[in-house]
Amino acid sequence: MQSVQSRKTFRSLGTVILLLVLAVALFAAIYGARNWGARAAARKLNNPVPVTADSLAAGKQTYREHCQSCHGERGDGTGKKAAELSVAPGDFTDTQKMSDITDGELFFQITKGRLPMPAFAGKLSEEKRWQAVDYIRTFAEPAPVSLAPPQ
Ligand code: HEC
Repeated sequence: MQSVQSRKTFRSLGTVILLLVLAVALFAAIYGARNWGARAAARKLNNPVPVTADSLAAGKQTYREHCQSCHGERGDGTGKKAAELSVAPGDFTDTQKMSDITDGELFFQITKGRLPMPAFAGKLSEEKRWQAVDYIRTFAEPAPVSLAPPQ
C-alpha cells in the first residue's frame, strides 16, 4: 500500500513538473516574441556596403568558401551538401522571392543562421556578410556587366 508520505511526494513532483513545463512555455513565448522583433528590425536595416565590382568580387569569394557547398554554384540551392540537409537551402534565383526580401533580412539570416544553416556572426565580419548579401542578389538579377565579378 502506498504511504501518505509517498503520495505527497508524488503530488509535489507533479507540481514541480507542471511548473517546469509552464516555465519552458513562457520562455519559448518570450524568446519567440524577441526573435520576431529582431526580424522585424532587421527588415529595415540599411545595407552599408554599396554594390561595386570590389564588393561583388569579395562576396563571391566568401560565397565560394562558406555558402556554395549548400546553396550551389548558381545559388539555386543545389550545392553538394543540399541533399543531406533536413531543410532545403533557399533558392536565390527566385526573382519573386528575392524581391520580397530586404537586404536586412538576408543579412539577418546569414548572421543568425537557422538550422541546418550555421550562424556566421562569429565567422565572418559584418562587412563580409553584407558583401555576401550583395553577391547573392546577382543570382536573381545579374549585376550590370561593368560591375560583374570576374568569373
Ligand atoms: C550547411 C548548409 C548551409 C550553408 C553552409 C549555408 N547555408 Fe544558407 N541556408 C541553408 C538552409 C538549409 C537554409 C534554409 C533555412 C530555412 O529556411 O529554415 C538557408 C537559408 C539561407 C538564407 C535565407 C533566405 C532563403 O532563401 O531561405 C540566406 C540569405 C542564406 N541561407 C545565405 C547563406 C550565405 C550567404 C551563406 C554563406 C555565408 C550560407 N547561407 C551558408 C543552408 C546553408
